[in-house]
Amino acid sequence: MEHTKYSAVIIGSGIAGLFAAIKLHKEANLPDGILVITKSKLIESNSKYAQGGMVCVMPENKLDSTMLHIEDTIKAGAGLTDSKVAEFISEKSAQVVKELQSFGVDFDRDENNKLKFTKEAAHSVNRILHAGGDATGFCIENALVEYLLSQKDIQIYEETLAVELLTDKNNVNRGVITYNYIKDEYKFIESPAVIIATGGVGQLYKYTTNPDITTGDGIALAYRAGAIVKDMEFIQFHPTAFALSDKGTMFLISEAVRGEGAKLVDASGNRFMHNYDEREELAPRDIVTRAIYSEMSKTGVKNVYLDATHIPENIFEKRFPTIYGTCKEYNINPSKNYIPVSPSAHYYMGGIKTKVNGETSVKGLYAIGEASCTGLHGANRLASNSILECAVTAFELVNHLKSINLESTYSYDSNVEKLINNYDSDINQDSSLDIENTIIRLKSLMWNNAGIVRNKENLDSALKEIKDISNEFLYKYKCPDRKAYELRNMLIISQLIVEFALQRSESRGAHYREDYPQTDDIALSNEKTILKCMKG
Ligand code: FAD
Ligand code: SIN
Repeated sequence: MEHTKYSAVIIGSGIAGLFAAIKLHKEANLPDGILVITKSKLIESNSKYAQGGMVCVMPENKLDSTMLHIEDTIKAGAGLTDSKVAEFISEKSAQVVKELQSFGVDFDRDENNKLKFTKEAAHSVNRILHAGGDATGFCIENALVEYLLSQKDIQIYEETLAVELLTDKNNVNRGVITYNYIKDEYKFIESPAVIIATGGVGQLYKYTTNPDITTGDGIALAYRAGAIVKDMEFIQFHPTAFALSDKGTMFLISEAVRGEGAKLVDASGNRFMHNYDEREELAPRDIVTRAIYSEMSKTGVKNVYLDATHIPENIFEKRFPTIYGTCKEYNINPSKNYIPVSPSAHYYMGGIKTKVNGETSVKGLYAIGEASCTGLHGANRLASNSILECAVTAFELVNHLKSINLESTYSYDSNVEKLINNYDSDINQDSSLDIENTIIRLKSLMWNNAGIVRNKENLDSALKEIKDISNEFLYKYKCPDRKAYELRNMLIISQLIVEFALQRSESRGAHYREDYPQTDDIALSNEKTILKCMKG
């Protein structure tokens, strides 16, 4: 296997990974250079599909303050948000936005060239910046990709998976093994700083707004390497995915449409949110999702509707060009017709336990963006806080890495050697498991048994089935192809989600147990590592 070395390796090219790569390259001393590894093409990521926007507390937005933003974040987080982290991230928001702008990101402005702020659920004021109307993620991601490509000496491996993180006997990071699935080629990349920016886990669920790269790889790899993972039971289900676009990934109808006044209705046009929460359509996401789920279950229908007919067509098209275009493809004119919507797995609050600068419990291993769990989101993320967290964690990571020696050594112990050997030899076991069908089966299982509404019986039976599949899946290290690596990782994360969900015998934020519908006031975040189990 080829052996090479870099001062820093960034795994993932969403907003977190790209922002970190650009800043690191610009500001840090990197004697051995920098490498970005990405599973698909550079631009493909959850980030690319973000619609609503990015929270920013700007001094010129006189109605807003960091105090208000922190309060909203903590309220949405249902008791598990770390207030110090919320404070830190909120206070950094204006600074990171300025930096993003310096890398070519253009947020939408009004006719007086002032930044426009919109609103989404559970925000007390308009504070969300957007770009390209409803194409915020694409505009940021695209600007960062262009900037990165203009920096000639950043090495990029596309269509390459990180498949194993290498830690030595002292649980210190030594590097990563990569697999290019087009060339069928493995490499050992040695590095004192490996940064996981691999995004979330949406593809673990049958219905999701996340693209097919989102299989929880980085979190599973970090867990295998001994890192602490946290809050693994908390998956955010977005209330309004476009119910007609059910092809693996569901198109999103942004919460910003409700922010602009759209209402949820049944097929006869009757509103129902007032029966669930006084904030109605702008209640926190978990509440709106469960309300829709309950309406759908009561009447046995597959979706409810979003009524945005109060917005004139020319205004809708200008403000939400992506949504307008997709609706039109399905012969829906949002200014005349109701938009069919249903909930879908969307965002992962859990992940690798980190500080705001990305440090994990494994020395030299970092995680930023959605793969990390800083404590900002608690049990339920406030809309548009994710891109902000991606930018702030990347920003702080770079500040941290600037202060340490990033020289590689070409020396490692027998632990690392053993791990490398597992990928150097041929696969000697052949699993009879049909990988593609098993992925489909696992996604249905997670949707039905560990989804929006959970109970012990369903979780127990999911755990048994996941363990059965894991026993049949014989590839502990080297796998035959990309899909098999993804299934290996999905099984690890699914099991952790279900175990954590079983352990949390209460309902809180996005985790709802119909057998324990109340919130238990002393319940805290749960954490786990392969090394030991903890509650902290
Ligand atoms: P991602 O953008 O998901 O990038 C992950 C990267 O890791 C990808 O490049 C992927 O290819 C790579 N990768 C994965 N596994 C591997 C592997 N094994 N090896 C190598 N590379 C790997 N948040 C907001 O704040 N505001 C919004 O308006 C908003 N809207 C959203 C709309 C949609 C439809 C979706 C899906 C999400 C939305 N979110 C929004 C959430 C937000 O987009 C994500 O949380 C955020 O972009 C995650 O960024 P990231 O850089 O952490 O990961
Ligand atoms: C949306 O636009 O509704 C998504 C916003 C988010 O996930 O933060």
